[in-house]
Amino acid sequence: MTLPNIKILDEKDKTLRKISHEVTFPLSDHDRKLIDDMITYLTMSQIKKYYEKYNLRPGMGLAFIQLGIPKNIFVIVEELENEKFKNYVIINPKIISHSEELIYVGEGEGCLSVNREVCGIVPRYARMRVKYQDINGKEQEIRVREDISVAFQHEMDHLKGILFIDKIDPKNPFKDKEKMREI
Ligand code: NI
Repeated sequence: MTLPNIKILDEKDKTLRKISHEVTFPLSDHDRKLIDDMITYLTMSQIKKYYEKYNLRPGMGLAFIQLGIPKNIFVIVEELENEKFKNYVIINPKIISHSEELIYVGEGEGCLSVNREVCGIVPRYARMRVKYQDINGKEQEIRVREDISVAFQHEMDHLKGILFIDKIDPKNPFKDKEKMREI
């Protein structure tokens, strides 16, 4: 695999605060290429041989806005088992319904745009039903749970210009911990 030449914006960049727009179809060749590049990058970032070689921080999700493009598109690369991956390409997502139950990532969420350790609880729905369009513009529906539900909410926040660090109260980063389940 060749490491794609993509530049991920850092949290200090105000572009990350932009609201992304609804995407129309068909996608341009440029957008399709970017989606491929993001998947390749995220995959390589989760494979030891590559993250060591290129000094990558492992990540499972990226939104277009993190490359400076305000479009409602994100990708998630989930490691199913040792170096076997499942890709999600999610365009124009909308939450249809979600659980009452809230969860949080015990070790803290991470983001390829946040290049520092940030501790604290980010409340997320444990389960959701989301509708979206696939890469060909076809309407789809998906049920997500646990870490993939967290990843979807993290990426959907990016589309609204929100970073996970915004959701942590610096004065009380573990507020309401007992009201949620740790994953
Ligand atoms: Ni992120």
